[in-house]
Parts: sequence; structure tokens; C-alpha cells
Amino acid sequence: MNETKQIRVAVIGAGERGVYVLGARTAELWKETGITVRLLCDTNPDRLMESKAYLESRYAESGLDLTIDTETDYLRIMDRDDIDVVFVTNYTSAHREPTVAALKAGKRVYLDKPMATSVDDARAMLEAEADSGRSIIMGFTRRYEHSWRTLVGLLRDGRIGTLQTVLLRSVIPYARYLQRWHRSQERSGGALNDKVSHYFDALNWIAESRPVSMNAIGGRSSVFAPDPSAPRRCRECDRHCPYRALPSPQVSEIGSVYRLDPDYRRQDVGIFTRPSWSLAESEDAQIDNCVYAGDTDIIDHALITVCYENGVKASLFWNIFGPSAEDEESIELVGSSGRMRLTRITGVIDIVSDYGESHEILDARGTHFNSSHFGADVELLHAIRHHYHGSEPAANTKDGFESLRMVLATEESIRRDGASISLISTTPTG
Ligand SMILES: NC(=O)c1ccc[n+]([C@@H]2O[C@H](COP(=O)([O-])OP(=O)(O)OC[C@H]3O[C@@H](n4cnc5c(N)ncnc54)[C@H](O)[C@@H]3O)[C@@H](O)[C@H]2O)c1
Repeated sequence: MNETKQIRVAVIGAGERGVYVLGARTAELWKETGITVRLLCDTNPDRLMESKAYLESRYAESGLDLTIDTETDYLRIMDRDDIDVVFVTNYTSAHREPTVAALKAGKRVYLDKPMATSVDDARAMLEAEADSGRSIIMGFTRRYEHSWRTLVGLLRDGRIGTLQTVLLRSVIPYARYLQRWHRSQERSGGALNDKVSHYFDALNWIAESRPVSMNAIGGRSSVFAPDPSAPRRCRECDRHCPYRALPSPQVSEIGSVYRLDPDYRRQDVGIFTRPSWSLAESEDAQIDNCVYAGDTDIIDHALITVCYENGVKASLFWNIFGPSAEDEESIELVGSSGRMRLTRITGVIDIVSDYGESHEILDARGTHFNSSHFGADVELLHAIRHHYHGSEPAANTKDGFESLRMVLATEESIRRDGASISLISTTPTG
């Protein structure tokens, strides 16, 4: 390590992202990054105990004998001088309070995306950040993915001339948004906030410009049309269902648990088999709410267009009921002299340049492609270390705020049957 200081982390929200993905990466990388998790905070005591045992065992596998403290109230960790950085990975609607408290306490903050569910929360975090004089690093993982960075590098080098239009296609098998806490618009800001916030940030990064207007159509498809006769949870249901999240006593298709969840399979998260999820009684902690239950208020598809100040135009085609497929997420950039298309799951960029004279297939997977988020989380931990030592992050809260505004503008446009929504009137400070 160049910078030898150990960086001691408290994770607020000891769930999938904070512990089983980012936390697990800290355990694998502690020797090179100096980052270790010293404290886990979660309002769910079962989750807390399970996560502590899991993470301590991951550190032990990596040769570090660590006892990780636990807390149920984030306020109790703020005056501890053995915590340097706080990872905010709890429900999106609860990002604000620990972020503001950590900044006030002089801690560095890693804030996961999406920034918030409301502009009020996002503004409060921006103000606390400005008062503290310490920037927040945000978790827009595509900014750290080798293939996306390669794509943007080629664009900036002029490989396809001047960027004109962008097409982002996301046809993803994410029924989990209807099964987990994301099913509450209030908690998550909906699937749109949880997933499309990534895409808006990526589009802004690629366009290198401010969005000036947007419009969208979308809503709730007929795929998950409410069925009042369906049992409330998978574990109480014996129907054959492609969205089954947990086995029932009657249906022994345990293999189907992961059938539509290639992300979980790839990242070896395995939360479905852990008791604090699989046996959870509180609705927030459950993972097997019926996709046909009528009480969720989130949308599952949208077709969105964005116009940028510099003339770039982007189109986003998104839904969460796609089949698991190799091409489920792709982005195509069209420039004045060529086009490039990245398929995220293969990490391959198909480049046609020089007005069609040249065609190249580029393997842009990078060294850590098989790790979580196609290697982005490994890069992110290195970025968190650099950020702690004073570097500016690749994605900050201004990016988070811009992305949130676009999510809210999309919702407004959908409510108004595709009306064009202006984005030029609001700025992070105004
Ligand atoms: N960067 C990425 O690619 C990425 C990927 C997944 C999730 N996320 C984000 O991470 C966050 C967590 O998502 P997840 O999938 O890990 O959810 P999760 O349910 O697995 O974990 C969240 C945990 O936070 C706890 N919690 C909720 N409110 C709390 C509070 N006030 N104080 C302490 N703990 C609290 C819950 O009990 C739960 O254990 C969300 O904002 C999500 O959008 C980001």
C-alpha cells in the first residue's frame, strides 16, 4: 500500500449491498486497500447477527481475525473515533439521516445510489456535505466498470466522431423489485429510482452535458396484473410460477429459486437461503412477496427520451420483466462517423468506425470481470481509499442529485401522458 493508513468502516444497513457485496469485497482486499469493516449497524437484530457472522468468517478466510461490533442505532457510532468512513447502504428512504449525522461527526461517507427518494432529502445531504467541507463518494457502479470506462474512453478519443445519439436498452429479470422492500415507492422510490438512476447517471457521464428536457411513457404492465386469489408469499404458495423466490413445502423446485436471478448467481450473494431473509416476518425484510399482490405501487417499464444542452439525445428502453438473457443490458452510442455497442454481460464492445470502413470486436471485460458488478466493486473500494486520502470521486452527490431529478421528471412525464418536462429550472443549490 502507498498510503499505509488503515481505514476503518462502519456499514449502516447490514444487508445485501453493504455486507454481502461491498463488505465481502473489503474482506478479500483488505491487504491492498487497508479498508476493514469494524462495525455493522442495522435496525433488524437478526440481520445484524447473521451479517456479523458472515463477514467475520469472510475476513477469517482472508487471514484476518476480526471482531466486528454491532449497533442498532446509527447515532451511537458517530462519536466513535475508531471509525473513519461510513458506508450508507440502508433503504434509500433512510439514507438522509445517517449521511447527515456522519458528515457532522467529521466522517467520510460512501453513499450508495440512488441518493434519496425525495429532493428534500437530497438537498439536506448536499447542504450537510457543503458545511462539512468533505465530499461524498457515490456508488454509481457503471462508472467503475472496466467495459463502461473503456467505452467512454473510446468515445472521448473520437473513435466514432462526435456523439449524437445514445440508445440504452435494459430488459432485465428483476421481479425481485416486486418481492422485496423496493415494492414500496415510499421506501425505494420504485424500481425506476433503484435501477434507472444508474442509467441516468451513465447517460449524463457519456453525454458530458446537462439534461434540459425529458419525456416518458410507461407504468405498470399486465405481466404482474394483480391476482387476488394468489397467496401472499412464495412460501405459502404451491403454484408453479416463474417468479418463485422461495421453495414452498409442496413444490420442491429449489433450483428455480435462482432461475431469474443471474445477478445473485454471479455475485454469490445467496441471501435467499439466509434466515433473516427467508424466514423474515416483517414485510420490509421479506423477499418472497407475491409479484401478483395488488398492494405495490411501483412501475415496471418505461420508454424515456432525454435531450442534452449540447444537442446529444438519448433514449432509454427499460423493463423489469425481461427474460434472463446475455443481451439484457446494452448501450449503443452513435457518433458522426461510427457507432459502438456495449453488451454489459459479455463485456464486449462492437465498434463500427470510419463511416463503416472499419469493424472491431473488443473484449473489454478487464481483470476483475467475474467479481461483483463485473469488477466495479473492486475498483470502487480502491476509489474509496483514494477519496479518503483526498481524491475527487468519479461520481459525487451532484451526479446523484441530477439522476434523482431525472427519475422524478420521468414519473411526472408518465403521469402527464408523455408531456415534455423541463429540467433547466432546478439546480442542486437553487
Ligand atoms: N450500487 C449498486 O449497484 C447497488 C446495488 C444494490 C443495492 N444498492 C443500494 O443499497 C441500498 C441497500 O440495498 P440492499 O439491496 O442492500 O437492501 P437490503 O434490504 O439487503 O439491506 C438494507 C438493510 O438496511 C437496513 N436498514 C433499513 N433502515 C435502516 C436504518 N434506518 N438504520 C440501519 N439499518 C437500516 C435493513 O434492515 C436491511 O438489512 C439501497 O439504497 C440500494 O439501492 C446499490
